[in-house]
Amino acid sequence: MKICVTGGMGYIGSHTVIELIKKGHEPVIVDNLVNSNPEVLNRIKKIVKVKPKFYEIDLRDEKKLDKCFQKEKFDVVIHFAGLKSVGESVKKPKLYYDNNIGSSKVLLKVMKKHKVRNIIFSSSATVYGVPKHVPLRETDPVGKAANPYGQTKIEIEKILMKVAKEDKKMNVVLLRYFNPVGAHESGLIGEDPNGIPNNLMPYITQVAVGRRKELTIFGNNYPTKDGTCIRDYIHVVDLAMGHLAALKAIKKKWGLKIYNLGTGKGTSVLELVKAFNRANKLKIKFVYGPRRPGDVVKNYANASKAYKELNWKATHSIVDMCRDSYNWQKKNPTGYQKAKK
Ligand code: NAD
Ligand code: UD1
Repeated sequence: MKICVTGGMGYIGSHTVIELIKKGHEPVIVDNLVNSNPEVLNRIKKIVKVKPKFYEIDLRDEKKLDKCFQKEKFDVVIHFAGLKSVGESVKKPKLYYDNNIGSSKVLLKVMKKHKVRNIIFSSSATVYGVPKHVPLRETDPVGKAANPYGQTKIEIEKILMKVAKEDKKMNVVLLRYFNPVGAHESGLIGEDPNGIPNNLMPYITQVAVGRRKELTIFGNNYPTKDGTCIRDYIHVVDLAMGHLAALKAIKKKWGLKIYNLGTGKGTSVLELVKAFNRANKLKIKFVYGPRRPGDVVKNYANASKAYKELNWKATHSIVDMCRDSYNWQKKNPTGYQKAKK
């Protein structure tokens, strides 16, 4: 299939492009490089021996996007593109609404014009808000967003639900990711956050390579087994495979489908640090600090719907995730920074 991969130069998109090429699909990347580096294309080529086609386009540029769709004749769109920094979204909410919601609207308009009727969208577990219980099921209510980034995911889901309802020819798949970590086993591609990482795993790997002095664990007095928060970490390659499973399952008149992509297993912050140490024979220095405002205590998926309907489940362990995250960071201590933009 010929697939338009928006945001395909980014962390999850680049891993998915690799798996798509491996399965014989033809991904075409559309990305404005606002949070990625062109070096990603060379790395993909090193891994799969194919350099995917790349259009440097801001999705909000309807004219350019229209031209690209005119030329390429896509079967499906996988829509990863978006800004994702929670902290930045609090400071610049308008930018987030404009970029994430605005670009999704333009994309849908162009898809309609060119009769592209299949879209797989990168949503997030953040749409559940503060969970009343875990594990979370797709039938659980969408909650109140904790920040503007989360609000954009809720709004885009709503827009896509409406599109699926109004146009019976459209197939819309909402994939709600839990906590993506890890990297391709080659260590050639991985997560490369700007500035001080907000998320746990990139912070740990930067401590491991000496870029940061120590990890601060945000709170150790939560009502959990060791007092630290619980999340559902999922290997990025498993996540990529989830997109392939969705792609395979899309049928005519499928309509709207929603799936959690998680492992179904909760891991505490302390457990993750210990697993990282075990996997890499290291001792990550950490201190306990105050709770992070807005943190959810426990968040993990019931991922059985994706297994039942897509025949997909995560196969990588926490140790695999820790080993591959460190392998990437060790081989690229400053990320893609050395490679020229
Ligand atoms: P990323 O920042 O690495 O990749 C996103 C890509 O989108 C980047 O390459 C960026 O340049 C591009 N982009 C942003 N705005 C664009 C625009 N207007 N036009 C064209 N390209 C644009 O992020 P990621 O971690 O790979 O996440 C991919 C998607 O998954 C995002 O939508 C994100 O919100 C969602 N998601 C991520 C996580 C996570 O923890 N990484 C969790 C849940 C959901
Ligand atoms: C965060 C975002 C969420 C987003 C998700 C995936 C917030 C409030 N939420 O969620 O919207 O969808 O990332 O990108 O930012 N931790 C530490 N020390 C650190 C970093 C994190 O102890 O330096 C802890 C956190 O308190 C949390 C756990 O590690 O308990 C995981 O944190 P993180 O990686 O930021 O993911 P989420 O909190 O799930």
